[in-house]
Amino acid sequence: MIILNKQKEYIEKIKKIIEKNNLNFTYYIETFGCSLNENDSEKFEGIFELSGMRKQNTPDGASLIVFNTCAIRENAEKRLLGRLGAVKKEAINGAIILIGGCMMQQEENIKLVKEKFPFVDLIFGTHTSFRLPENLYNIISGIYEEETKKEKETEANKNNKKRKTYVDILDIDGEIYEGMPVKRGEGSSAYVTIMYGCNNFCTYCIVPYVRGRERSRKPEYILNEIRDLVKEGYTKITLLGQNVNSYKGEGDILDFADLIDEICKIDGLKELSFISPHPKDFTDKIISSIAKNDKVSRNLHYPLQSGSTRILKKMNRKYTKEQYISRAKKIFEKVPNVSLSTDIIVGFPGETEEDFEETLDVVKKIDFDQIFMFIYSPRAGTIAYNMKDEYIPREVQNKRFERLKQLYNKRLDEINEKYVGRIEKVIVEGESKNNENMLEARNKNNKILIFEKYPNWKKGDEVKIKITKNHRWYLKGEKI
Ligand code: 5AD
Ligand code: SF4
Repeated sequence: MIILNKQKEYIEKIKKIIEKNNLNFTYYIETFGCSLNENDSEKFEGIFELSGMRKQNTPDGASLIVFNTCAIRENAEKRLLGRLGAVKKEAINGAIILIGGCMMQQEENIKLVKEKFPFVDLIFGTHTSFRLPENLYNIISGIYEEETKKEKETEANKNNKKRKTYVDILDIDGEIYEGMPVKRGEGSSAYVTIMYGCNNFCTYCIVPYVRGRERSRKPEYILNEIRDLVKEGYTKITLLGQNVNSYKGEGDILDFADLIDEICKIDGLKELSFISPHPKDFTDKIISSIAKNDKVSRNLHYPLQSGSTRILKKMNRKYTKEQYISRAKKIFEKVPNVSLSTDIIVGFPGETEEDFEETLDVVKKIDFDQIFMFIYSPRAGTIAYNMKDEYIPREVQNKRFERLKQLYNKRLDEINEKYVGRIEKVIVEGESKNNENMLEARNKNNKILIFEKYPNWKKGDEVKIKITKNHRWYLKGEKI
């Protein structure tokens, strides 16, 4: 574990340069991918804010532009390349451009960026982001400490000459670093990363290669962070990790169930969620910990990936269709009023019509309130990437995806009916996005409830809503 005192000194040094030169220094950050990446970006923003920079919501005219990349599927990678092309103008005008995140852990992507986007100032990876203050200081001092240098660099860019691209990447699993500032979003929800990396090597997944092996944060750091957040008004906490239920602690808090128990003791905490657990590690101890702590969200993520035992084996998921279903049934039985969400990959190499129907069968048997559906995307470096002679044609993948979507819509209507008639205590989140005469809230199953505005309503009000109608993507209700 690294405590970041030295990096804090670099933040101070950047701040001094910004103050000394009277710079109106702004930053723009764009995050691709999952909540873990969003939480990483919040840490980057913490560094920028403490350095005296101001956030802006578009790249136009920003002094610093940062992309935090994702490698999980090909479309996230393609989008980044488009976005990089779009900020060339800002780079020519002198903006500093940084790229970090999972995509940069792969050598071929570094090469690509260096060749096609030579104006990028720094490429950093998932194991070196703790050195961001130091790297940023080196770039900023190079530009602003000597005014002439800046002019030269800008001229160089205008003439389309190469600007130096610094690369700071480590292949080894990074150490966990603690103590950096974090800029949180507005509202009452906050993310807390509890573990980094993954040991599972599902054959389609790039994560273990770009995020390294599993490393868990020490329980005391997690608990202290949550206590502080709750004091600041962040009463809904989401724990993050690639595989949260294989969390390993120390002392009295040995595993994920112990961690849930301890976090739920924190006064003032209203709701605890977590993403993502792995079905193979969803132990009875964890299920009973969820059941006994009513602060734990009643919406659990339980990623299926495929309903075919044969494909699950090819994916290296380490459970069968039957084990998945029986564990889901146990969760429904032990945790009253729980709802499940899931991830499904369609068109994995070698998936036959029969395999796909097994997936549809699970969707028919288990009530999923939400399904995140993906078409298999080959990732160079993973085991499934080499199953090229078993790749499924795009048209077949698309058709299966559509069939799954149709079934999901039908199932959602059936599942939503069970909410009609229920009375739920919820917190008003604000006006409905689509109708300014209505208000919006979410119940404990993360369902959107829409109901009429009442006099003197305000955000944060606790109200009782009787659910009256299913509208598939939301539920309508009346205040009682
Ligand atoms: N292709 C398609 N989907 C993928 N996922 C992970 N890797 C791939 C891939 N190569 C999906 C899984 C995972 C979610 C975060 O992304 O369903 O649970
Ligand atoms: Fe990827 Fe599997 Fe690890 Fe999830 S559990 S991050 S899908 S390797």
